[in-house]
Amino acid sequence: MTPSPSPRTLEKLAAARRVAVLTGAGISAESGVPTFRGADGLWRRYRAEDLATPQAFARDPRLVWEWYDWRRQLIAKVEPNAGHLALARLEARCPDFSLITQNVDGLHPKAGSRRLVELHGNIWRLRCTAEQRTLVDARVPLPELPPRCPTCQALARPDVVWFGEALPQAVLEAAFEAAREAEVFLVVGTAAVVQPAASLPLTAKRAGAYVIEVNLEPTPISSSVDESLFAPAGEVLPLLIP
Ligand code: APR
Repeated sequence: MTPSPSPRTLEKLAAARRVAVLTGAGISAESGVPTFRGADGLWRRYRAEDLATPQAFARDPRLVWEWYDWRRQLIAKVEPNAGHLALARLEARCPDFSLITQNVDGLHPKAGSRRLVELHGNIWRLRCTAEQRTLVDARVPLPELPPRCPTCQALARPDVVWFGEALPQAVLEAAFEAAREAEVFLVVGTAAVVQPAASLPLTAKRAGAYVIEVNLEPTPISSSVDESLFAPAGEVLPLLIP
């Protein structure tokens, strides 16, 4: 039985002009994209330090790319779910809206979201390791692994943020400004354990936002939010955003 949002939550969300949302892997789970820390999460089956760090890429770029190419092929087969679509509807009716996502799967833009802050990059973009130029290359599978920059033939890497890497400053500033300005802050499908994303909900709360969490289970921020709705995002978000 999907929990019903409280009348106060529905009022707050309907009246808000400035809304920010933080999403994590959980919002893509119902589309069929594995999460990282859940029961069948990717970090239960693979070692992050072997696949999602600059050291791993320097050590074995082909292995790292085989993993990303496998994820790209999996994601290419799935569609946004009702949760992604509900957030696109919310954006359409909010004058001041930011969708801050930790996800690199590209399902939010595919669902129609545009006011995006992609904290951890995008799996469909490659970045030249020599000149940092980025390009979208959505071919699945990629014709050669590891791919090379078409301009200078240097190794190309996934344009995602790896463990141990800093997020681009402009992206961070946009995310924290959106959190500080929000009247309502919605946190969907994140374990809230990876920084700096995990600080955004508390930043919003301290700045006076009404914070709503959607997750299958309690997280470290559950005790600080105004309402937690423990149910699948694909079921709850359409109730929050009819
Ligand atoms: N609806 C709502 N929440 C869900 C659903 C669902 N259908 N399925 C899973 N969840 C929740 C889980 O309970 C968990 O709290 O989504 C969260 C997923 O947590 P993680 O797998 O840790 O993903 P995330 O929080 O996005 O990880 C953050 O860590 O590995 C890095 O860079 C990677 O962006 C990722 C970051």
